[in-house]
Amino acid sequence: MRHQFRDVADLTAALDGVGYLADEELGTALYLALVLQQPILLEGEPGVGKTEAAKSLAAVLDTPLIRLQCYEGLSASEALYEWNYPRQLLGIRLAESRGERLSDADLFTEDYLLDRPLLAALRHPGPRPAVLLVDEVDRADDEFEAFLMELLAEHAVTIPELGTRKAEVPPVAVLTSNRTRDLHEALKRRCLYHWIQHPGPERVAQIVRRRVPQAADDLCRHVAEGVDRLRELSLRKPPGVAEAISWAAALHALGETELDADAARRTISTVVKYDEDRAAVLEAGLDSVVPR
Ligand SMILES: Nc1ncnc2c1ncn2[C@@H]1O[C@H](COP(=O)(O)OP(=O)(O)OP(=O)(O)O)[C@@H](O)[C@H]1O
Ligand SMILES: [Mg+2]
Repeated sequence: MRHQFRDVADLTAALDGVGYLADEELGTALYLALVLQQPILLEGEPGVGKTEAAKSLAAVLDTPLIRLQCYEGLSASEALYEWNYPRQLLGIRLAESRGERLSDADLFTEDYLLDRPLLAALRHPGPRPAVLLVDEVDRADDEFEAFLMELLAEHAVTIPELGTRKAEVPPVAVLTSNRTRDLHEALKRRCLYHWIQHPGPERVAQIVRRRVPQAADDLCRHVAEGVDRLRELSLRKPPGVAEAISWAAALHALGETELDADAARRTISTVVKYDEDRAAVLEAGLDSVVPR
């Protein structure tokens, strides 16, 4: 059985149980990814919960999260497998000490194969599928994207020395992108898609309470409202959910139980990360940022 959820509400409640708050749209998208066995592409501003969505999905499925962090120049072979050279050398030495010689066929076997994330996800034995998180896929290059697309469509890869390996329990694939470039139409077409919106202040307050449970209730609400006002200032980097969490954690660490202009002044660098943005906030006045 791929998953145990009756419906979208059931999955959303389970995610809530591990501290991840998904609205109905995101809950539906994730549910469909499970039911239709299709990869899902999550896009959205930084810090809006894309990576965490995949982690939380693995947590509620009680299955391993296998993460491939993408970067420029990432090659298919790096993402798939490597040969265990030290072990092969040891094998050769041992054989030599017995007066034997090992051939390629002896050395390029399963015993010497080290799974990298993509192969590990395909070979996960189940019973439930692993969650394969292909994080920040927009950072990888075109060729890698094409390779990934094929792998996700076939759930199989060919290792020249060993032949084709096909998944018995295909992974739940979650791709994330910050949209530093547009992904191929063909990849998008194969994936379910969801744009995670920056949540409104009430939802941000709920998320902050989950992530900084020690913080005072009022503080969480004030921080969420403060972030909402900061976002109206058209900053170079408007603060998101992640910044709201950092801000609340910092304020709580300083013993604050609510947000006033003085506390905001002392902690503004935990929420606004560019000097020009900081100047813009100070110019607008901290009184306009904190709840009255
Ligand atoms: N809906 C949510 N429920 C609970 N926590 C959330 C939610 N959204 C974001 N968070 C928290 O916000 C922080 C940032 O989330 P995450 O790292 O998943 O963002 P991201 O979209 O992957 O960002 P980036 O694009 O920078 O990688 C994490 O601590 C995460 O737990
Ligand atoms: Mg991320």
